[in-house]
Amino acid sequence: MQGSLHPDIESVLLSQKDIEVIVEKMGRQITEDYAGKNPLIVTVLRGAFVFTADLLRKVEIPCAVDFMAVSSYGDGVKSSGVVRIVKDLDTKIEGRHVIIAEDILDSGLTLSYLMDLFAARNPASIEVAAFAVKDIPGKTPKIEPRYVGAHVPNEFIVGYGLDYAERYRNLPYVGILKPEVYS
Ligand code: IMP
Ligand code: MG
Repeated sequence: MQGSLHPDIESVLLSQKDIEVIVEKMGRQITEDYAGKNPLIVTVLRGAFVFTADLLRKVEIPCAVDFMAVSSYGDGVKSSGVVRIVKDLDTKIEGRHVIIAEDILDSGLTLSYLMDLFAARNPASIEVAAFAVKDIPGKTPKIEPRYVGAHVPNEFIVGYGLDYAERYRNLPYVGILKPEVYS
């Protein structure tokens, strides 16, 4: 068993074991779908770095990795509606099969911006692997990821790379943050 629950966490949504099962399955799917294609896995920093590190080790075909940093949230819990590129790719993606690894898909704003940006660079294909997709009643995100780890409720979650104001990324599970922490 892991250590005791962090006092700011209301409940655990995905345990370490749940996460392991989820990521292993995603890695298996990518391994099957991309055989012979040498995909480039693009991590969207910072949140997705933990997920990508695990996913990469479940992909059993040759692949490469690169990093992109965007910012859409500031320190709040609501999307600012503005996506800013903090760090661009170092790899040329023309003709490459690109898989964008994202921690969580909420409105889809961040990803749709990235997909448009990448599409203009003429990759062979672009798909999204989202560790989590937030289910917002009455709303569908702008993007349909090819690979979805888990559907999560419309709550603010942290851990496994996901932060609130840069905290909690180091929790080994995904938990719902107590609202009094951010309100
Ligand atoms: P979107 O552009 O609305 O899809 O927001 C996606 C980004 O917002 C993610 O990459 C996260 O960085 C952040 N985000 C959205 N929901 C949460 C959450 O519940 N916890 C932590 N970060 C979140
Ligand atoms: Mg993020």
